[in-house]
Amino acid sequence: MVVNMAENFIDHSYDVVVVGAGGAGLRAALGLAEAGLKTACISKLFPTRSHTVAAQGGISASLGNMGKDDWRWHMYDTVKGSDWLGDQDAIEFMVRHASEAVIELEHYGMPFSRTKEGKIYQRAFGGMTTEFGEGPPALRTCAAADRTGHAMLHTLYQQSLKHKVEFFVEYFAIDLLMNDGECVGVVAQCMEDGTFHRFAAKTIILATGGYGRIYFSCTSAHSCTGDGGGMVVRAGLPLQDTEFVQFHPTGIYGAGCLITEGVRGEGGYLTNSEGERFMERYAPSAKDLASRDVVSRAMTLEIREGRGVGKNKDHIYLHINHLDPEIIHQRLPGISETAKIFAGVDVTKQPIPVLPTCHYNMGGIPANYYGEVLRSGDDTVSGLMAVGEAACVSVHGANRLGSNSLLDLVVFGKVAAEHCIKSLSQNNKQIPKLHANDGVQSVQKINQLLDNQGEYHTADLRLEMQRIMQTDVSVFRDEKTLKTGKGLIQAVWQKFEKINISDKGMIWNTDLIETLEFENLLIQATATVDAALNRQESRGAHAREDYAERDDKNWMKHTIITIDEKGGTDISYRPVKDQPMSNDIQSIPPKKRVY
Ligand code: SIN
Repeated sequence: MVVNMAENFIDHSYDVVVVGAGGAGLRAALGLAEAGLKTACISKLFPTRSHTVAAQGGISASLGNMGKDDWRWHMYDTVKGSDWLGDQDAIEFMVRHASEAVIELEHYGMPFSRTKEGKIYQRAFGGMTTEFGEGPPALRTCAAADRTGHAMLHTLYQQSLKHKVEFFVEYFAIDLLMNDGECVGVVAQCMEDGTFHRFAAKTIILATGGYGRIYFSCTSAHSCTGDGGGMVVRAGLPLQDTEFVQFHPTGIYGAGCLITEGVRGEGGYLTNSEGERFMERYAPSAKDLASRDVVSRAMTLEIREGRGVGKNKDHIYLHINHLDPEIIHQRLPGISETAKIFAGVDVTKQPIPVLPTCHYNMGGIPANYYGEVLRSGDDTVSGLMAVGEAACVSVHGANRLGSNSLLDLVVFGKVAAEHCIKSLSQNNKQIPKLHANDGVQSVQKINQLLDNQGEYHTADLRLEMQRIMQTDVSVFRDEKTLKTGKGLIQAVWQKFEKINISDKGMIWNTDLIETLEFENLLIQATATVDAALNRQESRGAHAREDYAERDDKNWMKHTIITIDEKGGTDISYRPVKDQPMSNDIQSIPPKKRVY
């Protein structure tokens, strides 16, 4: 550690720096450290508070512990779930590596639930089928009760400690350090004492999670502010497929907390105000276990048509009160507690009030399936990788299947570490030397923010942005709502120039960090609304009422979007990779998506 007095930076040098300590970040970090690379992990949260902790239902893998299964069926389901926007080479890579990734977690000590024979317990999840969609639901989602993410995160953190990853906890990563188009490090602030730190590294891996907090109601933690996406955009690099935002069918009404899809996997079902199991009309085969976008749209339509439940007829009921209380206790203990605390219901006797709630970002930082960040086409950015929800690989395309996200984290976290180890040793790359000026601009920006005497406060502007997104860029969209949303988000950019984070005479130490997070959110809200306005079709989670059909001829392509410092955007497209990576299987051609 060297204190650079000129700019009061504290300088650090590592082989690799991972930003973010959720499932993907930890899996990457432990793989690097295990191979002997000097590895730092910077996290704005204590690692076991990362949002992976909140994943409930499980991680998909065709282990076939509880019925016949095949990775090819998993691949088919994932391509279909993505509404043919997912890249088939990356999807094949993910599902083919799923079983070994789960077994590896088991060997790391992850406490999975068990069958009577002692195998890993697997449950049904939405859109997961057998026989290429023709057979019964697949029991493919490996679960640790309904706290799978919690179990996974703690397991990976312990392994990271074992392999001596060096953690910088409660450090907020501000900006990438770029030199001639190459990433050479990252600048961060220690949230405890305000010191600025520069980390020089051969490779920076962004594992900063999603940006669900652009919405008012979401299952995402307050920390899900897409800081990696913000850094990438400020470095002049694009984002991909930001219009595709997943609404989980079962967020608790009013509170937004997640009630896992595993509830429906265990036999739970939805009803409207007439007591009707309406999913039978929308998805005659899969019913309540149709893909998330399908269920969320069906619920929204039921409410719109006056069949919502409650005083205001504005939500839907989720039932598990018909299930054996012992099964609920064993397999769904977490949601029983959550429903009691946040909705005041005893799930063994009463239905849970639920509503589609923003849950996941299919879009993010464009990356190939080794985790290398893409500048354009297949051209990679030297020294920069991205994994997990922060990245868009794209294995989820226009709609992610439940339990494919925990899988994405560990498969791509692991391969990113392996690829990084290999390429660093092949190239004999040295840790870059930072210039005196590196990072100075970021500090100057922060000082300017603190000096600003404007009229707007971060919390108010954030709420304004969240309400705009909730109203105008929701489960259903059309040109009118999206144009309104775009205009209103632009107005928030103008207000952001007049931000005031210090006029109370005293700054809470979170005020500055929340402002930096807000800038990241605003960038991604802009990318979401602008990309949604541009895409004139409906595909997966992007449901345009004015373009109700999927249009493969014109729109089977990924959105690539850049954003300037005033919120202006530039959009281009790149084709979907519709061929698998190996020759022993065939491409899955697009067809109508029914469940
Ligand atoms: C859930 O358990 O429903 C959430 C897990 C996921 O989004 O994959």
